[in-house]
Amino acid sequence: MRSVQALAASSGLISLVSAAPTPSSWWPRRHHGGHQSGINVQLGPRPYYLVNDMDDGPLKDKLQSCSENSVETTSFAISHRGAPLQFPEHTLEGYLAGMRMGAGIMECDVAFTKDRQLVCRHSQCDLATTTNIVATELGAKCTEPFVPADADAGTEATATCCTSDITLDEFLSLCGKMDASDPAAGNATEFLAGTPNYRTDLYAACGTLMTHAAWLRLVDAAGLQFTPELKTPEVEMPFEGDYTQQQYAQQLVDEYKAAGIDPGRVWAQSFLLDDVYYWLANEPAFGAQAVFLDERVDTPQGYADAVDSLAELAANGVNVVAPPIAALLALDETNSTIVKSDYAVAAREAGLDIITWSLERSGFLAEGGGYYYASVEPVINNDGDMYTVVDFLAKEVGIKGLFSDWPATVTYYANCMGL
Ligand SMILES: *[C@@H]1O[C@H](CO)[C@@H](O)[C@H](O)[C@H]1NC(C)=O
Ligand SMILES: *[C@@H]1O[C@H](CO)[C@@H](O)[C@H](O)[C@H]1NC(C)=O
Repeated sequence: MRSVQALAASSGLISLVSAAPTPSSWWPRRHHGGHQSGINVQLGPRPYYLVNDMDDGPLKDKLQSCSENSVETTSFAISHRGAPLQFPEHTLEGYLAGMRMGAGIMECDVAFTKDRQLVCRHSQCDLATTTNIVATELGAKCTEPFVPADADAGTEATATCCTSDITLDEFLSLCGKMDASDPAAGNATEFLAGTPNYRTDLYAACGTLMTHAAWLRLVDAAGLQFTPELKTPEVEMPFEGDYTQQQYAQQLVDEYKAAGIDPGRVWAQSFLLDDVYYWLANEPAFGAQAVFLDERVDTPQGYADAVDSLAELAANGVNVVAPPIAALLALDETNSTIVKSDYAVAAREAGLDIITWSLERSGFLAEGGGYYYASVEPVINNDGDMYTVVDFLAKEVGIKGLFSDWPATVTYYANCMGL
């Protein structure tokens, strides 16, 4: 059995764009459906570090009792953008790391290039912070090319570069880097810095960018499941007058059909309800488990409206919702015990499946954890508290899967609990 890295490298995978058949040598194919991929899962030290950091109690005892168990791939662990706690997001290297850490479902956020090819990128216009584009000749093609900081004027360095500014070949020539920038940069090279101290540049020598089609074949060869997200365009649609949102949504599904993928392995996501409704109406096999990413919860009124709407969404055919973690959690009147949020209760009452995002994006939890823990901040004060939240989401809220920037943390939990 050859290593994942060797298989990917020798396959010429990264240059493949068309839906050619998958060479069987990429991956030792054992099962379809992602239940048992045959991957030699490796978790590294982080889950053990987090368990040891937990407050004493039955959950810590239980998780410690699993320390010497072997682990398998689990669909409860969803790789969020690869493994961007330490690897450049949406790169071959990051996806391989996520697969190695036992993620049963892999994510590619999908954006389109100028020549309308689908590529993996978190947002259409994040190339200035997720790639080296500003330090290459292609930087001149950016929607807003790099402008250095000006201390006298009090302005920060800026650049906005979109996948739709460049062709597919140009996109694939770039290097993936950790998502960051230095707002004080005096030149483009300095702009590439700024990685937060809880991440690392160790694996960011030159991350390999991927098309959605090549990513699809990598994940298929590994026997895993797919969660592509149709990113909301940041350019006016129809793009260049004749590429509509519906064509874009259809193109995504067409790449699975061309590759002969069972729709039961595909969890297409969008923040736009209209995309989910498009798939339900036009590609019902894919629409049946399309995921509505619910960010309405980010304001108090939006939260209330979202809770009120869940039964109607279910009645309209939506089966899976995915709000951010904090929207599923609340505290009791003493502020000391986590309870289910109104959203969590309403979603389950409506018969909706719930997945949520994202673990391991918050850095150190000593000060409450920020956005993803906002609703339970008073009970979050050390990194091990992460597992208290994961356990509540799994057992009380009943989520089906958890996006993580470091899938090992979730894989460890899911294996220990037999999920
Ligand atoms: C960018 O600025 C740094 C710090 O002043 C300098 O060392 C470096 O040579 C500059 N790089 C380029 C490409 O100008
Ligand atoms: C609970 O926390 C909220 C928000 O931090 C605060 O407004 C409220 O006074 C707290 N209640 C108790 C009983 O401490």
